Amino acid sequence: MDFSKDSSRGGQHAGPPDGPDGKPHDPADHAGTARARLRARIGALTTGMRADGSRLGPVLADALDTQGKCFRGTLMLLTAEALGAAGDAVLDAAVACEMIHTASLLIDDLPSMDNAALRRGTPAFHVRHGEATTILAGIALLAEAVRLVSRAPADAGKRAGMAALLADAVGTAGLCEGQLRDLSPEKSAQGIKAEHDLKTGALFVCGFDMVALAAGCGADRQKGMAALGLLLGRCFQCLDDLLDAVGTEESTGKTVGRDGAGRGQLAVRGLDDAVALYHAMRADLDRSLSDCGFAGTAVDRYIAQVLPRDLPGRDAAAASA
Ligand code: IPE
Ligand code: IPE
Ligand code: MG
Ligand code: MG
Repeated sequence: MDFSKDSSRGGQHAGPPDGPDGKPHDPADHAGTARARLRARIGALTTGMRADGSRLGPVLADALDTQGKCFRGTLMLLTAEALGAAGDAVLDAAVACEMIHTASLLIDDLPSMDNAALRRGTPAFHVRHGEATTILAGIALLAEAVRLVSRAPADAGKRAGMAALLADAVGTAGLCEGQLRDLSPEKSAQGIKAEHDLKTGALFVCGFDMVALAAGCGADRQKGMAALGLLLGRCFQCLDDLLDAVGTEESTGKTVGRDGAGRGQLAVRGLDDAVALYHAMRADLDRSLSDCGFAGTAVDRYIAQVLPRDLPGRDAAAASA
């Protein structure tokens, strides 16, 4: 079974190329337009970091200019557009999520964590800058993310709310708790689910919560979007775990085979079972998209590009079951 080449994630780890002016080639490509807007804002910030006279600024700029898919930030902008609230405050919130995500990858690849040498198609940050600088850059990116939303063009209440949401996504109810559990050898199906909600889902939930806050959504819609964020995290991490097993360094742009050591979904189930779980969770995700009113929108289409409804090899998996 090899679905890694057919997945839109496979071979496109840095996301679709932008045109020469930084804009997507196809103006009807909503996700490309949103991603280009996000990248332009990141580019403006990294230009400032490179020129701020500090030693750390250019290091942080290097981390942010090494491009990934920008899935979280792009999704936030598309969601905000669907809700009619894609202003500059949401743009900064989306950049802040990408900063936190990038920090998490810097730390995740360290020798004491996943010990990965390749990331985003290039030598991992600790390989290029050393461990100590990587730890400091990770911490600084978390702080820069909070600083960015604290100064975003929104009223003081919304700025404070966004900063609190980012802190929630990183700490004991989010990423760091999830990463600590990931390191533990004790694994169970329920434990992996909770682990993925923390290490991956929490940042998606945070992104949707920030969009809901900026858009002034009511409690029901906010709850629906938070549920969507958790489902997204589960699907996303499940597919990532599958790609770790069946993908290649070329298709994913990162070190693969890490989870063979008893991590991720494949620590508690076989490949076919993990593929079946992905499809079940992907169907839940569709129901949640519909509940939120996003079915058939650019949000839905973009998610389907990154998280396909059907993984190639499904029939083969069913036939061999
Ligand atoms: C990788 O995330 C880490 C996981 C949560 C599985 P991405 O696949 O979004 O990484 P980039 O940003 O595109 O490099
Ligand atoms: C870590 O999961 C996800 C984070 C929250 C950093 P993985 O270890 O599976 O992520 P990759 O495969 O290295 O991107
Ligand atoms: Mg890893
Ligand atoms: Mg992985």
